[in-house]
Amino acid sequence: MSESTPAARLVSRPFEGPCVARAEDLPDVVSLANQVFRPSPRPGDMGSEFPILLGPANLGNQYIFRDGGQVASHVGMLRQTIHTLGVDIPVACIGSVCTHPDYRQGGLAGRLMDLAIQRSIEAGDVLMPISGKRTLYVSRGATSLGPQIRLKVPIQPDMAGAADFAVCAYEPADWTRLAALQARQSIRYAWSDREPQVLESIRRWGGVCLLASHKDGELAAALLFCVNHPMYGGKDGFGRVVQFLGDVAAIPACLARAARGGLTGMEWTVLATAHPEVARTLLSAGATGPSQLTAWTVLVLKLAKLIEKIGPAVARAGVELSARDGQLTIAAGEQSVTLADRESQIELLFRHPGTWSPTLAGLPRELRIACSVALPVPLPDYGINYV
Ligand SMILES: CC(C)(COP(=O)(O)OP(=O)(O)OC[C@H]1O[C@@H](n2cnc3c(N)ncnc32)[C@H](O)[C@@H]1OP(=O)(O)O)[C@@H](O)C(=O)NCCC(=O)NCCS
Repeated sequence: MSESTPAARLVSRPFEGPCVARAEDLPDVVSLANQVFRPSPRPGDMGSEFPILLGPANLGNQYIFRDGGQVASHVGMLRQTIHTLGVDIPVACIGSVCTHPDYRQGGLAGRLMDLAIQRSIEAGDVLMPISGKRTLYVSRGATSLGPQIRLKVPIQPDMAGAADFAVCAYEPADWTRLAALQARQSIRYAWSDREPQVLESIRRWGGVCLLASHKDGELAAALLFCVNHPMYGGKDGFGRVVQFLGDVAAIPACLARAARGGLTGMEWTVLATAHPEVARTLLSAGATGPSQLTAWTVLVLKLAKLIEKIGPAVARAGVELSARDGQLTIAAGEQSVTLADRESQIELLFRHPGTWSPTLAGLPRELRIACSVALPVPLPDYGINYV
């Protein structure tokens, strides 16, 4: 490698790190994140958009390199809990991965990722959802979920079925009933007292939350979408859905209300493995769009712990999963196969069989059929829990 390459120049610098950020580093972390993700004149402020991830309450989960006391590279992590198949799975979500342009290609972000992974494993986390699909993540075993469908939904004030629900705009006083509705979703991120702050930060930056109630006043559904949000977007008369909760029958009522607010359409990305009924409802309402794997990925941190949690539910559908020394064995009827590579393991566990790569697509027919019934394990889309 020539002495003039960035990596060669950086290797000899006296960096401090990789280390955990201190409280006094936080303004610098936010400033670096703004410089990288919200460069002027782009609106937004990472600190107020991500008040939990980048706030003082999450101190201890921010990994940095410093150069001359200034933060040169950052990887943020937020510990959350996913609920699926009737069990809780502790996860470490990765976000705000950034290196100052002067320090790129020197391995800094990679070493921070390695530290984040090591600390998450020590803390007992089982999965690591990552909002990206870069080599930085994929080379560490992270693999896409999916598929998802990216829909454009035409909307108008008099959508069929809209009259069946009463729709109003969310206010902070509605939090308790919104949280109760969310707690009834079978596939979800667990919400605590952090999420009201997250929701308010999204609303402050262009988020609109609508609540749809049955005639008797009981909350049936909630739709959160954005217009001109620095991250979620929403433009040219289209809103961009962040999260939907509850009864799909209330979708037309929410969309009609959004149309009365002046929008002509809604962009709505649905993770088909978690919310097929939402995709079907939108397609019936005239939505169109392409399907693809997600642009976010997941890394399995502790295979044995994951299998211990989800194995019983999968076994009820006829597939026995077992993990040993990082290898995953799947058995159904007379057939079994052992997968050693992490990418295939994630594909098998979290991806629809239609998206499997040739290794898995070549499994014995009996196993493929059994897996297509018992799997994939549905993971929730981030919604407001995005980091
Ligand atoms: C992405 C980013 C954080 C990387 O920071 P960095 O300190 O330069 O990272 P590293 O030097 O560890 O790695 C740089 C690249 O070289 C690759 N690399 C490192 N060592 C390697 C090796 N031995 N062989 C092959 N590739 C290697 C990494 O995988 C990474 O690839 P990617 O950028 O395609 O993901 C930085 O470019 C950045 O801030 N970008 C803008 C913000 C952004 O996009 N963040 C990620 C959001 S998902």
